[in-house]
Amino acid sequence: MFEHLKEKPADKIIALGQAFREDPRETKIDLGVGVYKNPEGVTPVMRAVKAAEKRLWEQETTKSYTALAGDPAFTDAMAGLVLGDAVPRDNVATLATPGGTGAVRQAFDLVRMANPGARVFVSDPTWPNHLSILAYLGMEVVNYRYFDSTTCAVDFDGMMADLDGVRAGDVVLLHGCCHNPTGANLTMPEWRAVVERLNAAGALPMIDIAYQGFGDGLDADAAAVRYVAANCPEVLIAASCSKNFGIYRERTGILMAVMQEAGLRTLTQANLAYLNRQTYSFPPDHGARLVSMVLTDDSLRADWQAELEDVRKGMLRLREQLAGELQRLSGSDRFGFIAQHRGMFSRLGATPEQVERLRADHGIYMIGDSRINIAGLNDKTVPILAKALIDAGV
Ligand code: LMR
Repeated sequence: MFEHLKEKPADKIIALGQAFREDPRETKIDLGVGVYKNPEGVTPVMRAVKAAEKRLWEQETTKSYTALAGDPAFTDAMAGLVLGDAVPRDNVATLATPGGTGAVRQAFDLVRMANPGARVFVSDPTWPNHLSILAYLGMEVVNYRYFDSTTCAVDFDGMMADLDGVRAGDVVLLHGCCHNPTGANLTMPEWRAVVERLNAAGALPMIDIAYQGFGDGLDADAAAVRYVAANCPEVLIAASCSKNFGIYRERTGILMAVMQEAGLRTLTQANLAYLNRQTYSFPPDHGARLVSMVLTDDSLRADWQAELEDVRKGMLRLREQLAGELQRLSGSDRFGFIAQHRGMFSRLGATPEQVERLRADHGIYMIGDSRINIAGLNDKTVPILAKALIDAGV
């Protein structure tokens, strides 16, 4: 039977990581996969997470199953972190999932169950795995313009023109903050205009928020999600704990279905639990438990927020350093967008040939569309990258 299997395209982010590991050059620089690294190049276990793990080890008396939809302490705490008090808790159905990707996958599956003909509008570009999962599920994808590669900012006119084509029942996938791969984000007035357009068409917004706390701060980064949740009849939200809690390998995420009509919650909640049961039965609990411990304990939460702020500010500093260095070397402001972008990524606007040259000549690894992971840089490598970019003619 196995001979009938077909080759699958490699995920370009994962493949780049493999190529980096195989490169023997000591001077190589990894700006690929979206994993936070401190200035020493280490992805640390956050202090509050480590403290929670110690406490959990001491206190945990069973590893029996939790609920199909996950431990309510986790889903409640995460609904609070993402949604604040934007909507009553009775209007939110929640599902613990293996990572943000698990939440994205379950969200698409829920859409397919509820409305098999739904088209999914995605930003051009978006996280490649969005497209890969949608293709795997056989769902129809429609691109909307998002990024102006000349200015490296959002092409909002193009986006709105393309969202004119949205019909009732369509799903429009939006990045809650820290757009991946571009780093370019909508302003609040732009979010309001998008919501107005989707509501007028009867389309459902789906928000992927994987980097809350990496852009302008925990609440600022959630402002758009909260606005959408409070102002649309129905919203799907996939949130990841991988990055802001640094628990990538624990696979911890949540899917939230927000509805104005609270009477739909029981039905939606049951469908979400059903989806988990069909896919992997119970969701993983270790990371979820650490997150709920951190979020519900005042001192752990304060320490986590302080460390997250340091991470966020460190990335902002690197953005400013890189933009400043490029301004100095190029004698122009054309790289100013790097300091304007938010989150872990910026798309630099280099051609695939230039990206390849950076890899071959300098051992600098970025995704083929010229997305860099800002956190892969440090004080020493910022000038090296800036010079290499100018030398490559970017
Ligand atoms: C990324 O975009 O690099 C991250 O979201 C990691 C991943 O799984 O692709």
